[in-house]
Amino acid sequence: MTTSSNNFPLEIKDLDPEEADEIHKHFFKGYQNGFLRVGPKGYFFTNGIKVDIKNTYNMPIRPDDTFVVTFPKSGTTWTQELVWMVANNLDYEKSDSIPLHERFLFLDMFMVINSDITKNYMKDFVKGDERLLKIIEKVTTPGTENAAKLPSPRFIKTHMPFSLLPPKLLDTAKVVYVARDPRDAVVSYYHHHKLFHFMGYTGDFKQYWEYFIQNKIDFTPYFPHVIEAWEQRNHPNLLFLFYEDMLKDLPKAVRQVAEFLGKTMTDEQVSRLCDRLKFDNFKKNPMLNFEVGGRDLGWITKKDRTFIRKGKSGDWREHFDEQMTAQAQRWIADNLRGTDLRFPTITDSDLASYNK
Ligand code: A3P
Repeated sequence: MTTSSNNFPLEIKDLDPEEADEIHKHFFKGYQNGFLRVGPKGYFFTNGIKVDIKNTYNMPIRPDDTFVVTFPKSGTTWTQELVWMVANNLDYEKSDSIPLHERFLFLDMFMVINSDITKNYMKDFVKGDERLLKIIEKVTTPGTENAAKLPSPRFIKTHMPFSLLPPKLLDTAKVVYVARDPRDAVVSYYHHHKLFHFMGYTGDFKQYWEYFIQNKIDFTPYFPHVIEAWEQRNHPNLLFLFYEDMLKDLPKAVRQVAEFLGKTMTDEQVSRLCDRLKFDNFKKNPMLNFEVGGRDLGWITKKDRTFIRKGKSGDWREHFDEQMTAQAQRWIADNLRGTDLRFPTITDSDLASYNK
């Protein structure tokens, strides 16, 4: 079935049932609701997004909103904390007492996890605990409803590409977009889908990689997502960052965010914030590492898996065999041909060697 409407000009197309069944079989326990593709780029989602995708596109944006927009696993959480701290004049008291996911709304959470199977599955884990049920209530309420209830200034995280967000977003509010080498993003995404009970990916990485480059994972295709933001990088309300640049020079990223948000910071303040954002500290911090409201909700599959995982650039080499490496190089070269998008880890000379 195909639908489109005036206030949502993009076509929503259900995935062919046979194709969907093939993914259901090999894929996620919680992803049993069918799939769809949206718009001319064919962004791939579970059926869960039907409930809120049009509302998301039409949601009212406030001038004092701050958005962090990313393709999943690109350093979103890290950037959220950076942005929140700078925007909130380094309020350590608040950030030490309120988990990041309560300070920063994940707009598409509902759409990502929406399915009755998932909800019931999660409720089983909670076993009647009132506090956890409240969190579940929040994450199973459409993101746009939660957003409308938030007092200003709002801090909103989304993985939606620009073409599926309100067209006036950039002209109204500030947006930080972060991009990461797709090979590291896909490895991180694979671990993410292994991590959560309600996603429950059971296949191996090679199979996952195939799905990824066939654009059969939520929010793919990868390159159009990044390119849509890259094309807007000179808009005064957009700050475009690379994960690898943040890794290399975090104080610089902090200063860029501060300038973007119209804040001034002393060297000492930058240094203290960088200390908080440093991987080892970030991983240990229960307000940031998703343990509060994550692990205690029972969403984590295994005790030895964590949301904040390795925090490295180039970890993909541990997961890609020779054939996948060559395939990735061709895929990257094909997708960057004709664009001026380059990554810190994918330069012109890398591309020249990929094209050989
Ligand atoms: P890895 O799985 O490669 O370790 P997102 O927040 O978009 O889901 O991205 C998650 C990725 O960012 C994970 O990558 C995670 O480890 C990494 N990350 C989180 N906090 C970080 C930090 N403080 N420094 C570096 N990387 C971090």
